[in-house]
Amino acid sequence: MNEEQRLSTGQVNTDLANKEEKDYSQYFQTVYTPPSLKKARRRGKEEVSYFDDFEIEERFEGMGNGRKFYIRTYGCQMNEHDTEVMAGIFTALGYEPTTTVDDANIILLNTCAIRENAENKVFGELGHLKPLKQRNPDILIGVCGCMSQQESVVNKILQTYDQVDMVFGTHNIHRLPNIIHEAYMSKEMVLEVWSKEGDIIENLPKKRLGNIKAWVNIMYGCDKFCTYCIVPFTRGKERSRRPEDIIQEVRHLAAQGYQEITLLGQNVNAYGKDFDDLNYRLADLMADLRRIDIPRVRFTTSHPWDFDDELIEVLAKGGNLVEHIHLPVQSGSSSILKIMGRAYTRESYLELVGKIRKAIPNVALTTDIIVGFPNETDEQFEETMTLYEEVGFEMAYTYIYSPRDGTPAEKMKDNIPMEVKKERLQRLNNLVNEYAAEAMKQFEGQVVEVLVEGESKRNDEVLSGYTRKSKLVNFKAPKSVIGKLVNVKITEAKTWSLDGEFLHVVEKDEVLN
Ligand code: SAH
Ligand code: SF4
Ligand code: F3S
Repeated sequence: MNEEQRLSTGQVNTDLANKEEKDYSQYFQTVYTPPSLKKARRRGKEEVSYFDDFEIEERFEGMGNGRKFYIRTYGCQMNEHDTEVMAGIFTALGYEPTTTVDDANIILLNTCAIRENAENKVFGELGHLKPLKQRNPDILIGVCGCMSQQESVVNKILQTYDQVDMVFGTHNIHRLPNIIHEAYMSKEMVLEVWSKEGDIIENLPKKRLGNIKAWVNIMYGCDKFCTYCIVPFTRGKERSRRPEDIIQEVRHLAAQGYQEITLLGQNVNAYGKDFDDLNYRLADLMADLRRIDIPRVRFTTSHPWDFDDELIEVLAKGGNLVEHIHLPVQSGSSSILKIMGRAYTRESYLELVGKIRKAIPNVALTTDIIVGFPNETDEQFEETMTLYEEVGFEMAYTYIYSPRDGTPAEKMKDNIPMEVKKERLQRLNNLVNEYAAEAMKQFEGQVVEVLVEGESKRNDEVLSGYTRKSKLVNFKAPKSVIGKLVNVKITEAKTWSLDGEFLHVVEKDEVLN
């Protein structure tokens, strides 16, 4: 940790923060660390440091005794997993979790900045929390996650949301004890957001949300800089965890009885590219994880850019590597892909899909798509529709383009009218539903392997779980099979789920798709 970082807990006097000026640094000098878009844009200038000695300082021990924490999480799995780490730190400090803001002593909003509506939800929630803070000024309210990495958001919070006690960024999670401590001591807004490129901190405590499935980070950050995307600015540069740390974590999870792990990264295919001393990539990691006795291994998110033949080869070996790949395409038009900075064309994407299908004939492919990118013509949108049909995706997350502060695309005119964007989204969603229903239909009469997660959300008489291809299955069975792999015969397919009859618990080495 360098001197600048050590000094960086900022205490912001809200009276000063309410002034008009945008640059508050003149008031706070070294004890104020706001996010900086300029710094977030710089890449490769700083070495990534690995720290493996996280521990709670003695002076913070017991800080949370008799107190409760509540974390609301927005955004992707990365954020959900960060919440597990923060919950682990809270627990290590003596705090207890609570499921409602009403009896919480600390409330954190772990935010997402990917689209404007994600941000609006958070500002709305901060509004709702204001009366609670007024009734009980001792509550601490914090904003963390991707929104806090954005200069414009932090300025807005400083100016208009004085119910917020602390703002800290995605690179500052391990500093949570210090940040909370500052917030208790000063009762003024604490601001600590590093725009540096990010380190890797191992051995952070984690309080996982379940005991059947677990997330494992394999890399952080993103260097792809797709022109519409905020993530490279909010998560820093690509940096990979060492293989031995990942393998040890997965072994440990397997020993604890976890049945499925999902490897996380914004762009997992770039795993290992940043190692100077090691020629070890995602294919090597998957080959090593295949040997670990855990029934299912997934990864997300794949970028078509670095999806190499070695990876296809190892995935084709199956075993605990599931035959489901989420491969965001974003658009079916090569010209739009070019201005999105995606570095592949419609043709090369289809070629990759062809290669994957050849090696893994029963693979399920799912995707992400953006409609209404600047200048997207009707014809270009039609190309997305035809690409969808050509690949026959089984599911897609579909989005209306949302300009993000500081991204290259923000400088382009957001010139597709909202009605047109909505109409395109509607048409695309109809197609997505049609293909999803068709993919589900294939399972009628078949026997599938289901990892049973618990009672169905709608009916506690019914259990539910997911297949290797991530299809939701509902069926009646004794509760004792929760957490186990079972075989289920599918009786009826719906658009987004399958109904079936429980057959039996899967014996080891009996693998179905
Ligand atoms: N790293 C992943 C994506 C993470 S963000 C990848 O590259 O595939 C998840 C999805 O949000 C993206 O795939 C994209 O479809 C969507 N998205 C990102 N920025 C967006 C924006 N500005 N407007 C609309 N959708 C966006
Ligand atoms: Fe965003 Fe592109 Fe990185 Fe995905 S690969 S996180 S879309 S910049
Ligand atoms: Fe959102 Fe940040 Fe994830 S912007 S999608 S929470 S990486």
